[in-house]
This record gives sequence, C-alpha cells and structure tokens, in this order.
Amino acid sequence: MRFTVAIDGPAAAGKGTIGRAVAARFGFAHLDTGLLYRAVGRRMLDGEPPITAAVALTPEDLSDPDALRTAEVAEAASKVAVIPEVRAALLDFQRAFARRAGGAVLDGRDIGTVICPEAEVKLFVTASAEVRAARRLKELLAAGFETDLGTVLADVLARDARDAERATAPMVAAGDALTLDTSEMSVEEAVAAAVAAVESRQGA
Ligand code: CDP
Repeated sequence: MRFTVAIDGPAAAGKGTIGRAVAARFGFAHLDTGLLYRAVGRRMLDGEPPITAAVALTPEDLSDPDALRTAEVAEAASKVAVIPEVRAALLDFQRAFARRAGGAVLDGRDIGTVICPEAEVKLFVTASAEVRAARRLKELLAAGFETDLGTVLADVLARDARDAERATAPMVAAGDALTLDTSEMSVEEAVAAAVAAVESRQGA
C-alpha cells in the first residue's frame, strides 16, 4: 500500500507535531525533511561546503535531532536550502521515502509541490507569525536556550521570507492542498483535522 501525506508550511507552524501524530495514528513512517537541511546547515557551520555536505550526508548526521533544533542551525538550513544542488542531492531519498510501502508522512516546504506532487493528502499548515514565534519560543526555552519573543519572531520572519522567495522549490501551498490555519486551534483540534483529511481520502 502506498499512501503519502505531504505536510508543508512556514517555520514553527506545527507541521512536525501534526506529522508525528498522523503517522502514529495510521501506522505510517514519518520524515521531518527539515532535519536534512538542518544537518547540511550544521556541516556548513563546521566548515564544509554545502553541496559537498549534502552529497555526503549519512544517517549519522541525523542521529541527534535535538542538537539540530537550534536557531543557529535553522538559519544555516534556510541558507543552504536555496542552493539547487543541495536540494537535488536530497531529492531521491525523500521521493523513495514518500512512496515506501506502508504509507509515509513527510513534512517540509516543497513536499506537495516538488517531492511528491502525487501525494494522496496534501496539507498546508500555517498560523500567524506571532503565534508561531510564541510556540517556538516555548520549545527553545524548554530546551534550555536563552532567547526572547522579539528575537524568535525576527528569525521566523527572515526564514519564511528566504523560503518563500527562493527560485528553486519555494515554500508555497500546492493548488490542491488543504490549508489548516492553526492560530486558534489546540494541538488536538489540528491533529483531528489532519486525521479527518486522511480518512476522507482513504474512504474515497
Ligand atoms: O521546524 P521549522 O519549521 O522551524 O523548520 P524545519 O522544517 O526544520 O526547516 C528548516 C529549514 O530547512 C527551513 O527554513 C527551510 O529553509 C529548509 N527546508 C526546505 O527548504 N525544504 C524542506 N522540505 C524542509 C526544510
């Protein structure tokens, strides 16, 4: 059985939370594709040219996801993500993951448009920039980082602009995506809406 759920949207919109919950609910595999770009960004910060890093990426680079979830690595990720050769190097792995047997959920920026335009379900998960920054601030403080709302909001807005304006695979809702604005939704409500979208397609 092949069934792909593509979840795209801006920074800190809750794509990962929804993606993990949908995957667990239906027994699908889940890939947070942002981690691939973050891992390339990490290697760039360590001095490696980004294209070389993307071509040489191994599972080992993803072995400590929490270490990649910093503001510094997020910014580096969005810088390497504009490079077409970096995106090309990561393409086959993501496509194969999307069409693996047993179903898959991928979250990112270009899943429904470039990685898997044939996905059975496409969601564009968003929320106001203020709500997203507040959610990310909470995560960063919980992880022990010292930062504040203004800094996080500026980071999120800068990253969204870079992601939306790049020439290759910009962040945009696919024409056939269902947009979920989670600004005023609880996690449970957002997950329920995503689950309902999958169930309605499965029943189709
Ligand atoms: O968790 P958050 O939404 O803040 O970011 P992420 O999903 O981990 O992605 C980090 C960065 O990687 C993004 O700002 C994008 O620049 C890039 N990215 C991308 O270009 N394409 C993807 N499919 C996923 C992430």
